[in-house]
Amino acid sequence: IYYPLSLLMLAGIREILLITTPEEQARFRLLLGDGSAWGLRLDYAVQEAPRGIAEALLIGRDFVGGERVCLALGDNILYGHDLVRLLRDARDRPGATAFCHPVRDPERYGVLTLGCGGRPASLVEKPAQPASNLAVIGLYMLDARASDFAAGLSPSRRGELEITDLLRCYLEAGELTAVTLGRGFAWFDAGTPDSLLETAEFVRTMEHRQGLPIACLEEVAFRMGFIDREQLSRLIDELGASEYARHLPALLAGEG
Ligand code: G1P
Repeated sequence: IYYPLSLLMLAGIREILLITTPEEQARFRLLLGDGSAWGLRLDYAVQEAPRGIAEALLIGRDFVGGERVCLALGDNILYGHDLVRLLRDARDRPGATAFCHPVRDPERYGVLTLGCGGRPASLVEKPAQPASNLAVIGLYMLDARASDFAAGLSPSRRGELEITDLLRCYLEAGELTAVTLGRGFAWFDAGTPDSLLETAEFVRTMEHRQGLPIACLEEVAFRMGFIDREQLSRLIDELGASEYARHLPALLAGEG
């Protein structure tokens, strides 16, 4: 959960609604609290049954309050150079932005095809015969109409309000931008045991090689200016001598 949170923070987003199953909410609250430790405002809501990603925009309608919104899936992990700039560009772009990435098994995902000038041409959820290898990543920048579009959707054959159907509303209005993240990026949907392990191996390899932690919220909050030195110092004390916090004192000393 730290990974999608760090992405939102790097995009400059500080007001975040965490939507979980009813059973899991207490665990997330215990771990993350109200987010103030990292200069965030975290709210919580429940999705009673797995009725689709687009339902998040109905559950969170009041929270979104008619503003632009970024919807991030908790099991998606993105890594790559210049990602922060791409996120900020998407945040400020009108309409909706979807990110896509080439994969070997596009039939597991929403699949996008591109037409003239790199504009998105078609969008299909888990097609049996994918028309391209571009999978849509679980990170969506949407404008203020997103909840209204979600309210107009009907459940798919698997009984879900599909995010792909919502994006298609923007596509049909000519207001969907697709940003392709190419070879310089890594994207994982860590939603199965195998892919979770694969993701963990990737993160471990990167952290071991570079000595730079990925998605350390204390570091991100400090670098983003969400917390000051005093707050970081307090967090370092609370974390104690853990491997996770090992690099933070150098950051405090201005060497990181
Ligand atoms: C969901 C979306 C799909 C997207 C994927 C990304 O799939 O429906 O369009 O490509 O997340 O992880 P699901 O997790 O519901 O299988």
